[in-house]
Amino acid sequence: MYNGEKLNPKQFVLDSVAEIKQQVGSDTVVLGLSGGVDSTVTALLIDKAIGHQLVCIFVDHGLLRKGEFEDVLKHYEGLGLNVKGVRAADRFFAALKGITDPELKRKAIGKTFIDVFADEARKVKDAKWLAQGTIWPDIAESHSDKGVIKSHHNVGGLPEDLKFGLVEPLKYLYKYEVREVGAELGLDAHFLGRHPFPGPGLGVRCLEECTPERIHILQEADAVYIDALREAGLYDKIWQAAAILLPVRSTGIKDGKRTFENVIALRAVNSVDAVTAEVVNLPFDFLQKVSTDIIAKVDGVNRVVYDCSPKPPSTIEWE
Ligand code: XMP
Repeated sequence: MYNGEKLNPKQFVLDSVAEIKQQVGSDTVVLGLSGGVDSTVTALLIDKAIGHQLVCIFVDHGLLRKGEFEDVLKHYEGLGLNVKGVRAADRFFAALKGITDPELKRKAIGKTFIDVFADEARKVKDAKWLAQGTIWPDIAESHSDKGVIKSHHNVGGLPEDLKFGLVEPLKYLYKYEVREVGAELGLDAHFLGRHPFPGPGLGVRCLEECTPERIHILQEADAVYIDALREAGLYDKIWQAAAILLPVRSTGIKDGKRTFENVIALRAVNSVDAVTAEVVNLPFDFLQKVSTDIIAKVDGVNRVVYDCSPKPPSTIEWE
């Protein structure tokens, strides 16, 4: 925990459940689920405290991994959460049209998320509270004394007519502690072991403009990479892995003809708290095989590179 005390997950769950019950009473709470561990553990904790007084909203912004919306929605329903899936990719792509600046992209995604979320939240009767999966590094990085490094994406800044109180039970925890709390709440190892995934999703991994076509290329390349990591038994040894679609094209040859196509960067890092991160020394033969597979299977890609930059000086996400 941020105050240096060692977390006791069982006690944390007991205390949080009591605090949440006291904080919200019989009011309704809305929560934006992202498919990630933080918002999911937040939902389970609040569900344990107040059951179906919690209404979860899971927005498909079109920037999720391949097949993720359907898979995760099914998983949430299996967990007994009161969840509504909302498909809104068109609204996000419309908002992202023509934008190439990373911070403007994040702002466009954040604002559209708020609009979509607000539309859904207004349909929830008597909602008085907004729950968020904020964790300590989100707060620490957003308020760094060195100024804003990246504007982190959450649902703050809802419109005037939605004046909710905030419920943020994980806000003093580090990521590894969130996983301990998730395990205490019975979240299965497959879900708990999922790599962190940013709120703006593939939007911060698709450099320059995010169009449906470019996001599709990235989703396909990312799926080849992540499946290969799982098959090689490497996924669980890595803190976070990602494919990134670069804003350059390169010359290549396919079927004896010249191509001029996209470049994918692969990234894999280990970290404890995302504040610093070291590059994973992936076996070179593995990287060569993934590169060959991506170029063979993903239309529009003819080159793959590996990112060898630690944090700092680089950040984990490219935007
Ligand atoms: P950076 O790129 O800042 O990322 O080194 C640190 C960790 O935070 C994740 N990340 C985000 N998570 N909303 C999130 O929920 C965001 O806007 C966001 N930006 C970065 C990133 O994936 C990494 O785990």
